[in-house]
Amino acid sequence: MIGVIKGTGACLPEKVLDNNALSQWMDTNDQWIQERTGIKTRHVVEHETTVSMAADAAMHALENAGVPAEEIDLILVSTVSSNVILPSTACEVQRSIGAVNAVCFDLNAACTGFLFALNTAQAYFHAGLIKKALIIGAESLSNLMDWGDRSTAILFGDGAGAAVLTAEEGEFPSMVMHSDGSKGGVLTCNNRFLKDGLALSEIRSKDLYIRMNGQEVFKFAVRKVPECIEELLTQCRTRPEEVDYYILHQANERIVESIAKRLKVDISRFPMNLMDYGNTSSASIPILLDQVNRRGMLKKGMKLVLAGFGAGLSWGATYLEWQI
Ligand code: ACO
Repeated sequence: MIGVIKGTGACLPEKVLDNNALSQWMDTNDQWIQERTGIKTRHVVEHETTVSMAADAAMHALENAGVPAEEIDLILVSTVSSNVILPSTACEVQRSIGAVNAVCFDLNAACTGFLFALNTAQAYFHAGLIKKALIIGAESLSNLMDWGDRSTAILFGDGAGAAVLTAEEGEFPSMVMHSDGSKGGVLTCNNRFLKDGLALSEIRSKDLYIRMNGQEVFKFAVRKVPECIEELLTQCRTRPEEVDYYILHQANERIVESIAKRLKVDISRFPMNLMDYGNTSSASIPILLDQVNRRGMLKKGMKLVLAGFGAGLSWGATYLEWQI
């Protein structure tokens, strides 16, 4: 058995911050941000939370799939920006949507998290443990931003995306997953609730926010993502040009363009929404998937590659054929 995506959903916070708004309190400007990243605006939470956005996205996905919440056996939420440490965001979503029969847990693989969650669910389907699953990526990264740091604050945004999968006969899908903890220092955020061996007063406040060596992350992404997509396509005996759409993690337009160039595939096969939403970490892939789904861009039998990369370091790619 495999899990087949039957519905998608998304939720974006109401408040929109454009580049000009950011330039009012940090030394940056619209032209620099657009040229280096492609980002124009991002959504940030005010009254919304990671849980509320995850639950909203989940409800939209359930509605889109025509599946009642009580039929869901597994809720997996990928997040690095949960409102609370306990209970898990997945359990909070369960309570909110009434998925009373689901087993629920969170997973942290940063921007690769949705992909790893999807693949984890596939293993559950394959083992015959579940028949219906709800996979969510949800982030309130604005809570983890140092809004005085122009090298990170311009990049990220908040939001959530979700997919409902149901069990069908089929071969285990092709997937590639990698991690390299030895390079984890290039993208970090300390846990503000832990002392980490220091007295709380000794932790410099800047360590409590996302810190990133942008150039190292950029080099990692443009080298490792095409490599792992090539590994995936070899596994499923598919040529890059046979793939209808590449749904990539939305971090930077230049990264997406570089991957398209390396694979020698036209950029039109790489839908993007980072210009509107910025980098929403584990939410970016399911938000984009929901957009292309709801715009009617996906037809039954179309070949898709989903690929993510991010902190850890972690990266991976999954192949699927659209079934609705
Ligand atoms: N506005 C204006 N100037 C800026 C800004 C800004 N927001 N940020 C940096 N600068 C300046 C720097 O200070 C530097 O000035 P200097 O030359 O006088 O020292 C200059 O611009 C160039 O800075 P770089 O850091 O070299 O700029 P770069 O071209 O590398 O672009 C960026 C920076 C956009 C962060 C790029 O490195 C990048 O996109 N990296 C990948 C980041 C990423 O994708 N992260 C997320 C992936 S993982 C995940 O999703 C969690």
